[in-house]
Amino acid sequence: MGSLIGNESVGTNMDSLLRENRVFAPPAEFAAKAHVKSVAEYEAMYRRSVEDPEAFWAEAAGELEWFAPWTKVQEGEIAEAKWFVGGKLNLCHNSVDRHALGARKDKVALLWEGEPGEVRKITYGELHEQVQRFANVLKGLGVVKGDRVAIYMGMCPELAIALLACARIGAIHSVVFGGFASHAIADRVNDSGCVAVITQDISYRRGGEVKLKSIVDEALKKCPTVKNVVVFQRAASSAVSMTEGRDIWWHEAMALAGAECAAEWMDSEDPLYILYTSGTTGKPKGLVHTTGGYSVGTYLTSKYVFDLREDDVYWCTADIGWVTGHSYVVYGPLQNGATVMMYEGAPNWPEPDRFWKIVDAHKVSVFYTAPTAIRAFTKWGNEWVDKYSLASLRLLGTVGEPINPESWMWYHREIGKERCPIVDTYWQTETGAIMIAPIPGAVAAKPGSATRPFFGIVPEVVTQEGEPVPDGQGGLLVFRKPWPSLARTIYGDPERYKQAYFSEIPGCYFTGDGARRDEDGYFWLMGRVDDVINVSGHRLGTMEIESALVAHVKVAEAAVVGRPDAMKGQAIAAFVTLEGGCEATEELKQELRQWVAKEIGALARPDDLRFTDALPKTRSGKIMRRLLRELAETGEVKGDTTTLEDFGVIAKLRENDE
Ligand code: WTA
Repeated sequence: MGSLIGNESVGTNMDSLLRENRVFAPPAEFAAKAHVKSVAEYEAMYRRSVEDPEAFWAEAAGELEWFAPWTKVQEGEIAEAKWFVGGKLNLCHNSVDRHALGARKDKVALLWEGEPGEVRKITYGELHEQVQRFANVLKGLGVVKGDRVAIYMGMCPELAIALLACARIGAIHSVVFGGFASHAIADRVNDSGCVAVITQDISYRRGGEVKLKSIVDEALKKCPTVKNVVVFQRAASSAVSMTEGRDIWWHEAMALAGAECAAEWMDSEDPLYILYTSGTTGKPKGLVHTTGGYSVGTYLTSKYVFDLREDDVYWCTADIGWVTGHSYVVYGPLQNGATVMMYEGAPNWPEPDRFWKIVDAHKVSVFYTAPTAIRAFTKWGNEWVDKYSLASLRLLGTVGEPINPESWMWYHREIGKERCPIVDTYWQTETGAIMIAPIPGAVAAKPGSATRPFFGIVPEVVTQEGEPVPDGQGGLLVFRKPWPSLARTIYGDPERYKQAYFSEIPGCYFTGDGARRDEDGYFWLMGRVDDVINVSGHRLGTMEIESALVAHVKVAEAAVVGRPDAMKGQAIAAFVTLEGGCEATEELKQELRQWVAKEIGALARPDDLRFTDALPKTRSGKIMRRLLRELAETGEVKGDTTTLEDFGVIAKLRENDE
């Protein structure tokens, strides 16, 4: 394996971020009411959490309900760590029953707005009933604890209900983002052998209909393990085709289902869900999160990072198809008994003020979104924001990619009105919960920095050999000490789990990210150092896109790299060599871009696609992505080409540059 820091953008980002030295202390009014009120308090709690992690995490876990206590808080090294060993609990119980059977029965749990404008409010009491009924629907189909259930839906309350019902009976859910194409669904369903799929007829997006059920039908032609499909009816009248003996309507099944379903006693280490994410090589990895540690991690981070209070209306704009939606639309806030806002559609439908309209209409107080969305808002212009008071907001957050300081300033000024702290939250699908973020009433923000670690989390910046890198210098971000919510394995491939995360740097979990720590102990994320591309906060593996391209009959070889993009963070650039006799036409270029969208989903469609006679390779046959990145970014190559097999290739590629 070559140098891990092959991504030159690490250096570029570092230079630009080094110039950022503005500091924003928590507003006094916010701090006065916050869970953690001062930096001294944060530091004392943090110190205790890392000096006596068992006591700290046991206390956190004790805020949830357990059916049976654990015998050991933690055991094992980071790569095989177990948490709350022997403890029994159920995440659906902690997210729903605990509130429905207590003082929050009539409190709104899910506050939903559809893209066409309808509003639904579901209380904890109602959610309790719906979730139990749907759990019975699944049981009626023969789904039992440990079975895998795929969920392919749009953002509607039934999606959250589907997740919670699976968790209730111990079925392992595998949510596939509603923007993925049928091939991507089939791959994921087959990888884990799902026995059922939960979907809906259509979902509304940008005024159009996303035909989810027919995409599922297409996928299931290749999925022999799926016995049933439950279809939620979103449209007033649905014309989808239902396969006799396999497909049932959600509403019909719910009407027949019993109203009570006891929550399964799950072992702390029982799998809770699988979520696929992109890695450096090969097909997407099905990361497995388990019950106890994930529950405690998402519960505690939601409580402190979003400083949740009883009267909050909390809105995380992420789709539940991504980990942010799992942890911070569903499980984290619901375990805290929050009122969770959910919105079905696009931020600019029918006009670019939709989000702000929702904030004012529903009095949203905590708002959590992605830097790519913020960049879009700044582009659309302040007139769309200025029509609204946004007076209900008290805390803002970002996730998914580094936020450029100017976007941070815009968010602070135009949305937060210089009154709301901003939490820039760094974490990953693998980490399950937020790892680095300011505790908002305590830690001062620096635009562009995720700031300081969450309780119990010890980030380190190291060299490839695992040696510490001095403050101020860039290196690799790793975690040496275990924490509860880390994914425990890759479904069906424990070896790959060890290989992907624990083999690069001895004794450490390696994030794949570059970072530096400044003299105040603040962390600055500098982007991926591997072949993962971050497009609008969505993770894509270069390998997946390359495989899709090569699957086209006319394509011989393909190499995909990310290049910086002002709106999306990174854009996808593809270099393609064609099979003999195939002509490199503009038409074929468009066809190939479309092909990738069809194979994986629109989010993977290459922004640039270039034909070339050959790809630059090292003498050992490895594609020199570094050169391609440089070419995609600047149109020329200055870097070291000494190992390049054929210098002519680079000259040729440059010539073809448009
Ligand atoms: C990037 C999303 C900088 C990072 C929760 C990480 C970030 C990858 C931030 C994980 C942030 C996420 N600042 N970079 N605040 N948050 N990232 O698995 O490169 O979809 O490794 O999880 O996103 O993406 P994933």
